[in-house]
Amino acid sequence: YFVACGTAMHAGLVAKNIFEKLCHIPTEVDIASEFRYRDPIVDEHTLCVFIRQSGETADTLACLRKVKDDGIDTLSIVNVVGSSIARESKYVMYTKAGCEISVATTKAYSAQLTIFAILTLYLINNKYILDEINEIPTLLENLINKDYKSIAKEIYKDKNIFYIGRGVDYSICMEGALKLKEISYINCVAYQAGELKHGTISLIEKNTPVIAVSTDCDLIEKTISNIKEVKSRGAKVIFVTNQNICNDFYDFKIEIPEVNQILQSILTIVPLQILAYEVAKLNGCDIDKPRNLAKSVTVE
Ligand code: AGP
Repeated sequence: YFVACGTAMHAGLVAKNIFEKLCHIPTEVDIASEFRYRDPIVDEHTLCVFIRQSGETADTLACLRKVKDDGIDTLSIVNVVGSSIARESKYVMYTKAGCEISVATTKAYSAQLTIFAILTLYLINNKYILDEINEIPTLLENLINKDYKSIAKEIYKDKNIFYIGRGVDYSICMEGALKLKEISYINCVAYQAGELKHGTISLIEKNTPVIAVSTDCDLIEKTISNIKEVKSRGAKVIFVTNQNICNDFYDFKIEIPEVNQILQSILTIVPLQILAYEVAKLNGCDIDKPRNLAKSVTVE
């Protein structure tokens, strides 16, 4: 059971995809403010994993105490050393991303994804991608230095932006949408690409921005057919992919390097984070301190 809030919960969704696919461990992800008031089915075979940057979020801490009282094993994946959650958990893994000051979390999320990649390697008892992990910093640096401003200029005045993806890419879409909405105040919503036709597609009109993420070879054809559905309704499509595909179903393409699926999300999120930054900047927003938000939510 992964229990977390906001971005940390989105990291849990990435972990669920990888753990179920590669480790065959049944995995649930829950929002802490929901988990604490439900009756989740946990027992002595359950490990409850609490993911947090701060280690002080009130709802997540309450969940930890709740399951601890029932004798359930607890593991915290946390950035702030010595925080409440780290002290009270049975096991702790520190993400060691360094001090994160901006309210919008970025590097802590990347470090959480990295911890999950390493945990997966441990669980499947495989060290074959350790060399590839060492290449990630260079790939990240190259990605960070690309130009995202020209695409930001195409969408920064819009009022609604949609993100679509399947599988693990949908989890990344949720995080990309949260990042953009929290620092630019534009309404951004993520959908599972195949779910659009059950209602949401009615919101697509001429020039509605749709950011479509596709990095999973097994699902890309399905996602492309969903992209074509929004494109034919006039959407302005920004296609984020690790595949070498050129076609007329998108307006802009952001290419990311293809790496092992265990590591892919660590790269995929970066263009979406920087796009959020560029859009917020063009709108003159206070990027590090967005309105109404606190870095650590210590109230219920
Ligand atoms: C992320 O950009 C947000 N500011 C927010 O969702 C944050 O991730 C959430 O409040 C959880 O915080 P935590 O990791 O410190 O528990």
